[in-house]
Amino acid sequence: MISQLTISNLRNITDISIQPESGINLILGDNGSGKTSILEAVHLLGLGRSFRTRSLKNAVQFKQQQFQVVAKTETNIPVGLQFNLNTGLQIRLNNAPLKKLSELATQLPMQMIPANCHQFFEQGPRYRRQLVDWGLFHVEPEFNYQWQSYKKILQQRNSAIRQRKKSDEIQLWDTHLASFGEKITAHRQQQLSQLLTSFEVIFTRICPEYSDAEFSIRYKNGWAKDRNLAESLQLSLERDQKLGYTRSGSHAADWSFRINDVDPAELFSRGQQKLFVLALCMAQAKITEQTRHERSLLLLDDISSELDIRHQQLVLNELALLPVQAFITSTDLALKEAETSVFHVKHGAIYSGQ
Ligand SMILES: Nc1ncnc2c1ncn2[C@@H]1O[C@H](COP(=O)(O)OP(=O)(O)OP(=O)(O)O)[C@@H](O)[C@H]1O
Ligand SMILES: [Mg+2]
Repeated sequence: MISQLTISNLRNITDISIQPESGINLILGDNGSGKTSILEAVHLLGLGRSFRTRSLKNAVQFKQQQFQVVAKTETNIPVGLQFNLNTGLQIRLNNAPLKKLSELATQLPMQMIPANCHQFFEQGPRYRRQLVDWGLFHVEPEFNYQWQSYKKILQQRNSAIRQRKKSDEIQLWDTHLASFGEKITAHRQQQLSQLLTSFEVIFTRICPEYSDAEFSIRYKNGWAKDRNLAESLQLSLERDQKLGYTRSGSHAADWSFRINDVDPAELFSRGQQKLFVLALCMAQAKITEQTRHERSLLLLDDISSELDIRHQQLVLNELALLPVQAFITSTDLALKEAETSVFHVKHGAIYSGQ
């Protein structure tokens, strides 16, 4: 949770300093005023990267050399990030240079819901895996290590395949790959079943049209159902050698929600798609609080796109009940929530608050 946020020379924001509420913070302003840039700044602090650009130099204000984002967490830990066109990115956590980016994410658990999040249903399995893995990263301390190790071993196996090494040299990697893969699968399955429980409650409240529906999750390991990963790797060696890479494994996992046993993509309107993704992210935040007793940051860009006033209000009511510090942007204030801070943005500056 952030108690103080200062942004300088990021996009059209020259200098902004705000003290956000621990609950809901509404950021209001016209198109191009700088609302999404404020979310971008918070996202940078939590992850060390932007959700808008791969190249941070595009985020430096025109004619400037660097941008800076500085915050204080609720426990008074300073987090500072600076990107300079010449010297690159520097991050400081608690007054010392950051060693690993993952330390940031641990300090500020975050859920980001972009304006185009309804595209969730058009995305491939990689995106869905990342969504669950991101939740796991926050709640399961071993997961990051297991997933990184798995990916390294997979690379080694793939490179042995590409170099047309002998079968036994390729299979050298199988035991470890399978062992990490099985652990990753167990974590993901557990995370998904926990997610489903919280999701159901939240989704049916923000989308009451589906309050009588039945929800389930289908999870695909990434290899044949009736075998373990070690056996699958062994049986598919010849195929992998022909393909030039390892096809089966946790890197090929996928999952899908079912509503009344139907794919939601076949049922949902665009607004309902947005509510679905929102409920997923809110459920992840809830799990983070249950396991780590920490409030997540929840960044919701453009609440009004795809959602009518009634559903926006239902989302706000739900957020107020959740253990999250929310930053929500919108072009107009049609919403009310007692404990909400409102920041008005104009030409990259805050011109009044409450
Ligand atoms: N590097 C930059 N330097 C200066 N201005 C920039 C830079 N990059 C983008 N901008 C401008 O910053 C402004 C703020 O953009 P931002 O996306 O934050 O607006 P917004 O308030 O979210 O608008 P919308 O309601 O349309 O989503 C825009 O006018 C944009 O064109
Ligand atoms: Mg915007």
